[in-house]
Amino acid sequence: MAERQLRPTGDRCAREESFPSFRLVSRVRERLNAFMSSNSFDLISRRGFLAASSGVVLAAALPSVQEAAKPPSLPKLALHGGEKAVKKSIRLPIRWGESERERLNAMLGQESLLYWKGPQTTLLLERFRKICPLKYTMNCSSGTAALHIAVAAAGIGPGDEVITAPITDIGTVIGVIYQQGVPVFADLGANTYNLDARDVERRITARTKVITAVHLAGNPCDMTALKAIADRHNLILIEDCAQAWGTKYQGQPVGTVGHIACFSLQNSKHVTCGDGGIVGSNDERFGPLLQRYGDKGFDREKGGLFECFATNYRMSEPQAAVAAAQLGRLEGIVAQRARLGDLLTAQITGLAGIRPHHVASGDRCSYWFYMFRLSPSAFRCDRAEFVKALSAEGVPASAGYIPVPLHRNPVFLKHGFFNGRWPLRETGLTSMDYTKVECPEAEAILQTGIRVTIHEAMTEEFILGVAEGIRKVARHYAA
Ligand SMILES: Cc1ncc(COP(=O)(O)O)c(C=O)c1O
Repeated sequence: MAERQLRPTGDRCAREESFPSFRLVSRVRERLNAFMSSNSFDLISRRGFLAASSGVVLAAALPSVQEAAKPPSLPKLALHGGEKAVKKSIRLPIRWGESERERLNAMLGQESLLYWKGPQTTLLLERFRKICPLKYTMNCSSGTAALHIAVAAAGIGPGDEVITAPITDIGTVIGVIYQQGVPVFADLGANTYNLDARDVERRITARTKVITAVHLAGNPCDMTALKAIADRHNLILIEDCAQAWGTKYQGQPVGTVGHIACFSLQNSKHVTCGDGGIVGSNDERFGPLLQRYGDKGFDREKGGLFECFATNYRMSEPQAAVAAAQLGRLEGIVAQRARLGDLLTAQITGLAGIRPHHVASGDRCSYWFYMFRLSPSAFRCDRAEFVKALSAEGVPASAGYIPVPLHRNPVFLKHGFFNGRWPLRETGLTSMDYTKVECPEAEAILQTGIRVTIHEAMTEEFILGVAEGIRKVARHYAA
């Protein structure tokens, strides 16, 4: 082969010279050239023979000059039998213990387990207000309940529109639909996965009453932009903080920028009591209504006759006891998650084809999960293969988040919210057609996102391993 022919040393290019194996072969070539040009094959000395023969063997054994010019070989993927990037597995966090037991014991000594003026509820709401200073608060049975109470208190009625994110838990919009309102989906920011304020404004109509900002994965929305839009169009701004316990927008706790805040205490959240929620407000128009809309319309402060209609979303004292204890753990949980998520971003920023989870400077993300995106054209494999390779490296990764944006679910596409029917559309109170809704960035996020679990029992060392795994897999499959 041409590369293997003996060439004078002057042929070498600087790039080739920088490889030790090339320099070695060149030296052997020089010796052989000198040896062969001497025309004294019959007078081969022992040293000359050795040099020549070993040089020939070496030249044949070493890679070609072209191959030698390649960058050093990449480490073998764990998927292909190589060493794992994440060396040690991590235990799951221990989420409850003595403080919850203490509160439950105290609760067992009570005469009543009803929430109203119950000691556990009182403590829970006191602790909540230290985290999220809101004058009016109501603890309730779930985050979905909190969001339903919020839209009911905001006055959502037949045909009223609520603009929100299409990537969220369906609980964000369940209450809207039960109030006979219309969820309107706006597109998302490509790297924050939160509402794109400009697209929100484009979707405002004469029927729009509320914007519900979902702080997805604990990353705060651009609340300055959303509040400005709400103020400009006289809309009510609800914050869905279900995934955002301990999150701060420019130093301010989420839930305190908008008019009404909704939190979830469901099992998978930063803090939990199995199932539960809290809704709160500083606004005198909505705050006093929260308790009633969570308690069958009954005003426990004033008593009297029913003036509003609502279902039973009460939380009972056993849940409040656990939730109150959990709030004592919150800051430790969130501080660690924030540190680890930000560390991961710092580690993978600038890696070709990888778009880290973007958190605006000055914000605190509580990383309910971490999600980076792949630029598909940058890789020789699809996302499923990438995730498989990451998992083999020991990275807790999975593809995307929810399978499709909310409006692509059959119940939306068929407009079949009430046993296959949607009276609102049938009677012309809305012309919403979910088959025609387009949120291209939200679709792309779900198709290219890779979710990485972050939790408080993880260490910086573990996250460095995770980052190493992402780098290794990205470089291996680089196009
Ligand atoms: C963003 C978001 N909103 C609302 C909810 C509903 O909360 P819950 O499950 O407590 O009803 C969730 C729960 O997963 C959520 O993640």
